[in-house]
Parts: sequence; structure tokens; C-alpha cells
Amino acid sequence: MCGIVGAVAERNITTILIEGLKRLEYRGYDSAGLAVFTQQGNLERRRRIGKVSELETAVAAEPLAGNLGIAHTRWATHGAPTEHNAHPHFSGHELAVVHNGIIENHEELREKLKGLGYSFSSETDTEVIVHLLDHTLKTLPDLADALKAAVKQLHGAYGLAVISAKQPDRLLAARSGSPLVIGLGHGENFLASDQLALRQVTDRFMYLEEGDIAEIRRDQVTIWDVAGTQVQRETVQYHEGAEAADKGAYRHFMLKEIHEQPTVVQRTLEGRLGKDHVMVQAFGPQAAELFAKVRNVQIVACGTSYHAGMVARYWLESLAGIPCQVEVASEFRYRKVVVQPDTLFVSISQSGETADTLAALRNAKELGFLGSLAICNVGISSLVRESDLTLLTQAGPEIGVASTKAFTTQLVSLMLLTLSLGQVRGTLAAGVEAELVEELRRLPTRLGEALAMDAIVEKTAELFADKHHTLFLGRGAQFPVAMEGALKLKEISYIHAEAYPAGELKHGPLALVDSDMPVVTVAPNNELLEKLKSNLQEVRARGGELIVFADEAAGMSNGEGTHVIAVPHIIDALAPILYTIPLQLLSYYVAVLKGTDVDQPRNLAKSVTVE
Ligand code: F6R
Repeated sequence: MCGIVGAVAERNITTILIEGLKRLEYRGYDSAGLAVFTQQGNLERRRRIGKVSELETAVAAEPLAGNLGIAHTRWATHGAPTEHNAHPHFSGHELAVVHNGIIENHEELREKLKGLGYSFSSETDTEVIVHLLDHTLKTLPDLADALKAAVKQLHGAYGLAVISAKQPDRLLAARSGSPLVIGLGHGENFLASDQLALRQVTDRFMYLEEGDIAEIRRDQVTIWDVAGTQVQRETVQYHEGAEAADKGAYRHFMLKEIHEQPTVVQRTLEGRLGKDHVMVQAFGPQAAELFAKVRNVQIVACGTSYHAGMVARYWLESLAGIPCQVEVASEFRYRKVVVQPDTLFVSISQSGETADTLAALRNAKELGFLGSLAICNVGISSLVRESDLTLLTQAGPEIGVASTKAFTTQLVSLMLLTLSLGQVRGTLAAGVEAELVEELRRLPTRLGEALAMDAIVEKTAELFADKHHTLFLGRGAQFPVAMEGALKLKEISYIHAEAYPAGELKHGPLALVDSDMPVVTVAPNNELLEKLKSNLQEVRARGGELIVFADEAAGMSNGEGTHVIAVPHIIDALAPILYTIPLQLLSYYVAVLKGTDVDQPRNLAKSVTVE
């Protein structure tokens, strides 16, 4: 999704802007641009379709140097990914804007501005902002005053940065629905949509809140809140995660992040497990009181996070005896929902800024839920700020667009939720909590053992190199794991992959099975194993090639057209977490064989902050 970087300094800021954009590449984008107030006193820009490296080449060919600038990576929403739609957008030669988000009333504003004599050079919603600001400056010549007035006319979501050649000592910013952070330097200050973009220049940050407007000068930052009152925002020193933008010895961020899972799962458990129980207060001081009243759970999320929610439904119902519904946020938010009394609303999100999930939470507040809990990886996200309770996953920044470590830390967090609800409500069977707490402690080691399957999975990936379609099968809590496996494969290898509950096979999808359709299955040693084995026979009988990730003790062996890969044994309740690992590795190695852009797959964005 779009990214913003801005700087006002004594030194030349062009390389800082480009480096910042590179650090935001992981969010996904299709064009990039920057505008600099040059030493010659002009506002100049360079824009390119494609990677930031193309922009860098353009800047090297036609250098730009200056002390004030803004830059952007664009993920097309209004208008195709072309150079004239790329940001920054100009009004005349003196005003430049970059914008994340969507201006919903852009058509109406465009007509109005055309009527005032403005002509448009792009199809973007963003261009209305810069002309509107230019028009407002005619009556309110101070840039901050004009921006405060202009944003009142914008409906929708924005994080935006503005510079003017007439007031070249300042950078202006406004936030409503799209995050922005100010990076504080010594005699220089910066702006970005994500602090990661600025870790090269500072470790001190100030996060803008909803409705804030900021005027950023070299030696001073002034912030006004939504009511127009001048406010101070806390300065936060950032310690962790600086290394996250570095692949280290790994070829891709995705592989690095897959291998980080034992560590980040360990971190997610830290401070949350007592001797034989989960510490409910990890969910916040009011958690125990709220959880005691919970009779139902409604989970809402998107994509991979939704799959985590689907696994949690099996856990909540089978372990804690609590009825649970799970729904994708884009459906939930527009459906007339009937809320059962005493239902806890749980949102799951890596970024905490996913537009549909946030909108679902905001709707939920009007619907009479008992309270809201966010399971999220970003502590400063909107989802966290707007929920009653939070459990932060400790995955650290996830750079690969395809989610891996965020998913497994979400699953661990959801197991903590299951045990906490069961504990407080007294619905867990005797000994279950103590046993699972013990197993959770061993989980990082188990995940390490699963990662040792790397080489065998890499070899197995060769079976997919010339395939165009695959089926993923699972039963029980392994069905969502199969769904997640299929999502990963399609996202990064572009191979069409579908997941089915194995029992559904003969109700339709079996018609697709032939020797060109590999069928991937996850087979822990549980009460559904025998049923699963029968389903696999149905596949073999139609000439389908089977790739089975099976418990060491499942009694399955290689045969013609059947490739069994042994997975270390684990207690059934935690099997969804462990079996995720070989499926992630499989997608990764298939994508590498296919030569795709593993970390930034086509058409996808890391943080989906628009609907
Ligand atoms: C898939 C993936 C996406 C996200 C989805 C929700 O690999 O990453 O499906 O899971 O866009 O994002 P968050 O979790 O940030 O709300």
C-alpha cells in the first residue's frame, strides 16, 4: 500500500527520501516519486512507474538536491499505475502533495475546482487535495491555516504531506484514517507513514493521532488536534526492530521470517504463562471481569488473519465450550448482523490498519457487543487504539507481503485467549490448561524441529514446478491450515490453489483430480486420520499425486504417486501451528523455482488500508 516520506533539513535530503521509500517497499506499490525544493529555488519532481530503483536511476540521471522534500510509493486505487498518476501531485509549480488513503468526495471536489479554473493532469483522488489547498491559500496565505481549512472539506481517509515553494522552511502533514509518524532529528525533522522508513535517520518518534495537523520545521514541530488546539504528542524512543529491514543471510524476507518463528512465538508467550495457567491480565486490567461475562465470541479478520480466526473457532468450541462465529471483515461490515447477548468481538490483524477490519470494529461498537479485543502485531495501530482490550503478537515487523510469522503468533495468541476464556468461565476440562501451557512452552523447540524439514520440502517443491492447479485438503482444525497453505501458494507462486475440507472432495472437487493436479494434505495423528486416509484413496484412484505432511506416527508411507513427508509429533491442539511451517516452506520453494518476486508478489500490498 502507499508509503510517505518527508524531510526538512540543512543537508540534502534526496538520498534520505529514496532510502526511506526503499524501506517502505515491503508494503507493495506500483509507482514512486519525489518532489524537492531545490537549491535553485524551484519545486521539482521525478516520478517513475515500477520500483524505487527506477526512481533512483531517474534522480541519478537528472540530479535533484535540496533541504525540503516529500516522496511517495503509490499503490493504484483511482487511475492506472502511470507516471502522471504517480505522486507527488502539483498545483502550479509551487505546491506539492503526497497522500495515502482515499478521498471519497473527490468527484464533487474535482467539479468544483474545475469550475474555479483548475485543470487536472491525473485521474487520482489526490490531485483534488493539492488544488483545493492552492485555492484555500488565496484567502489563508499561511500553509498550516490553509491546510486546516482545506482538510475540513475532505471526506474519506488521508495521511498527507505538503510542501510549498513559497514557504520552503516547513513540511505540513495531516492525518485522518492513515497513520503518520514524525521522526525527530537534531536540527532536522522527518515524516513517514511508517517509522521503519526513518530508522536510518532517527530513533525518536512522535505519532500523529486522528485529526492531527503538524507543521514540521528543521528545529520545531507544532501539532494541532482535531479541534484545532495546539497539543504535545509524546516522544517515543524506538529500540527494537531496526534489523527488520535487513534480510541478513537469507535470500528473501519471507524465508527469514519463516525461520524467525521459534523466536517470535517464544516472545509472544513471554510474560503470559504462569506455572500451569495463562495469565489473563495479559489481555489488560479489565480482561478477567469482561471475560467472565462472555458467552459467545465473534471473530472478524481478513486473509491470513481470517484463517487464524477459523482455527480459533475449533479451539474455542472444543476446548473452552464457547460458541464462536468467524467472518471475513468485508462481509461482516456490510451485513445486518444479529448479535447474541454477551458476545465478545475479536478482531485479528497483523497491521492493525486493514480498512475492512477497522470498519467492522467501528460497526461492532454500534451493535451491542459486550466488548472488543484486538489481536494485533502493531501496538500503535488504529485497531489497538480503538479496541477495549488488546493482545499484541510479538512477531516484529513483517516485511514479506505474504504473512508467515504474523500468522503463527496470531494462532499462539488465540490459544492464549481460548485458555483464558475457559479458565475464567470454568469451562475447561480438568488438566487441559496445565497440559497446554506445558506444550506451549515446548512449542518454540517443536517449531525449530519443523524448520529442519526445510531441505526435504525444498526437494518436494520440484513436483509443482510445471503445475498450474493444486488442491489442499485438511480436516477439523487442519482445514483452515489447508486454506492458509493454498493462499500462500497462490499469492507467491501464482499457481491456482484451492482448499477443501477433505470430506467435501467427493461432493464436487474430485472431478478436477488427474495427474496434473497435485493434492497437498496435512495429516496429524488424530481421530480424523482414518477418515482422511480414505479421502486420500479417492484421490489416488483418480491418478492424483498426493503430497502428505503426516505425523511420524501416522503409519503413512511413500508409494507410487504418494509422497509422505514426516512431521514431528505434537499434541493435536497445537498441530495447526506446527503444520503451517512445512506449508509455508513449500510455497516459498515453489515460488523460488518459478522465479517470482517472493517478497513483493504482483498486485498485492502488505497493508490494505483502503477498502
Ligand atoms: C496474506 C496476507 C493477507 C493479510 C490480510 C489482512 O499472506 O498477508 O491476506 O493477512 O490482508 O491483513 P492484516 O492482518 O494486516 O489485517
